[in-house]
Amino acid sequence: MKLTRIVLASLSLVALTLPAALTSALAGQEPEQEFENNQVLHGDVLIDEMLEALRGLGLPRRAGRGCLHCHVGDMEQPRDTWDYASDAKENKQKARTMFAMVKEINERYLPEVAGDGADHQPVTCYTCHAGRPNPTPLPQVLQSEFELGGVERLAETYREARRRYFAADAYDFRVDTLIDVANGLTARGDFASAAAIHELNLEYNNDEPEAHRGLIRARMFEALMTGGMDAMAARYEQSKSEHPAEAFAPSLLDTIGWVLVRGGNEAVGVALFELNLAEHPDSFFPHESLAWGYLQIGEAERGIELAERWLEANPAHELGETLLNDLRESR
Ligand code: HEC
Ligand code: HEC
Repeated sequence: MKLTRIVLASLSLVALTLPAALTSALAGQEPEQEFENNQVLHGDVLIDEMLEALRGLGLPRRAGRGCLHCHVGDMEQPRDTWDYASDAKENKQKARTMFAMVKEINERYLPEVAGDGADHQPVTCYTCHAGRPNPTPLPQVLQSEFELGGVERLAETYREARRRYFAADAYDFRVDTLIDVANGLTARGDFASAAAIHELNLEYNNDEPEAHRGLIRARMFEALMTGGMDAMAARYEQSKSEHPAEAFAPSLLDTIGWVLVRGGNEAVGVALFELNLAEHPDSFFPHESLAWGYLQIGEAERGIELAERWLEANPAHELGETLLNDLRESR
């Protein structure tokens, strides 16, 4: 038995650097009965599958270190002491279920789709894992890290994942990932954590206006909670010196206004729409939101007046006409 292990250990080392065809030729020489505890994989494919698992889960290949993700052994000890047959590690038990699942997908489900004998792209560990030991998408990973240890732990995990996986197709590091996670916290009323996560985003995405908007929004909500509308408006003013001009598109105050209106805080929402209109007097968008906002607080006439004024200055503006008609009808 010991001999088998030695052969295997050296075989897998060689295999890591050989082309696939040669690898399977070598592995094929291993008779099936040499393994003690293979319940899913046949002996002739087992080593190939081990290598695929290493690659698919993005485990380190050097000196077989990645094998210890699932197998019992010690890097400090010779490899013939490693116990591949043992099921002591949870990862191995989980991986066995995964091997069975992948087999089932490839042998049963994919042929149904691709047709018998037709060439189809088989599912591998990589299909889902894409180089990650656990394929949970980054926003969910960050969400659970936050639950476990707050922004600090979330930021540590994000930085580490970024160092390790950036430019791999493992995780989505585009600007929206942290914005979505932060927005989840905003929705729960945890504005301070949301702001801290937007700040983390800006460390990496300082040239993305949307990342700046996220932080401004979180800070404004925070101010609203502690000091009301005046504090929020003051925070907005202060933001102008802290963020690039591109961040202050008409959508910034508009989004916050609608969040408030939908949350039943119509008066503050309308005040924000008014502020937005003062900031962007030539844009249709703030007119439209404010007109609907007036309707929400029972001031339909003011909304209609606003739409009429817009049409006077912009005759035959189709959206303006629709707005005016809709407002008149909903009175
Ligand atoms: C992601 C987990 C995982 C990784 C990584 C992994 N294995 Fe395995 N290995 C398994 C599972 C699961 C089995 C059992 C398969 C079965 O039940 O058919 C197994 C079985 C084996 C066996 C058969 C043991 C026996 O006698 O029953 C050998 C040998 C083996 N692996 C070698 C390796 C080597 C060498 C590496 C590194 C190149 C490696 N494995 C990496 C999960 C893994
Ligand atoms: C169809 C998608 C899919 C494929 C293919 C797939 N996995 Fe997984 N695997 C998952 C998901 C999803 C999880 C995470 C479950 C969870 O943690 O909630 C997972 C979890 C695991 C885990 C446990 C990770 C942990 O942190 O607990 C191991 C080990 C694993 N897979 C190994 C493999 C191996 C080896 C293969 C290839 C034989 C494979 N998987 C193929 C979807 C897949």
